[in-house]
Amino acid sequence: MIVAVANLKGGTGKTTSAFFLAAALARRGRTLLVDCDPQGSALSWSESAEEDGARLPFNVVGLPTRDVHKKVRGLAEDYRHVVLDTPPGELAIARAALLAADAALVAVSPTAMDLDRVMATLELIAEVEPLNDLTFQVLLTRVRRISREGRDARGVMKEMGLPVMQAEVPQLSFYSDAFGEALGEDLGEYERAAAELLGEKVGGRS
Ligand SMILES: Nc1ncnc2c1ncn2[C@@H]1O[C@H](COP(=O)(O)OP(=O)(O)OP(=O)(O)O)[C@@H](O)[C@H]1O
Ligand SMILES: [Mg+2]
Repeated sequence: MIVAVANLKGGTGKTTSAFFLAAALARRGRTLLVDCDPQGSALSWSESAEEDGARLPFNVVGLPTRDVHKKVRGLAEDYRHVVLDTPPGELAIARAALLAADAALVAVSPTAMDLDRVMATLELIAEVEPLNDLTFQVLLTRVRRISREGRDARGVMKEMGLPVMQAEVPQLSFYSDAFGEALGEDLGEYERAAAELLGEKVGGRS
């Protein structure tokens, strides 16, 4: 599967989600993470992990270009799964990444401002969808378990008819501290997100 992690708003958890998801998908088959963001955060994450002597379970390349959809086609042949990390401000690149994908995962952090800003991304997906049969799901990220915002956001988005994943990533230093590190056995909520993405049978929420 080729999955693009998207949200035109910055700082919603795209790169963190792309990295953890790539690790979870790598357990299921050969996986490539494509960094489509000129900021190159996923690439620096992987370089920093490898400088520490770690070997990541997936390959990483940087392709922050408007024709990434053309380049990914060739690359994808060698992989079971490809994860595209997309940039926030670069509409043309984000659009190209969505064009390359079978599925979009919209990483949304459930604050009022983030919910307000998610429409632009949904509109972009709606524009691309007829061209490549793109499916999409919303993944709630950076959810503060102490507040109601996660539950409220889920409710609002369900009312809007948006497909919200059961998996929900809490705001924890476990995820932010992972930047620059190779990931261990525990992939937190992303194991469940990967299973859901692939349509594997997922157990109930504990
Ligand atoms: N579940 C989480 N819990 C705590 N911190 C998180 C979580 N997910 C992401 N973060 C932190 O939030 C910040 C933004 O995350 P990240 O870089 O993944 O977002 P992004 O959408 O890729 O940002 P950009 O739009 O700039 O590319 C980072 O400091 C990251 O470590
Ligand atoms: Mg990013």
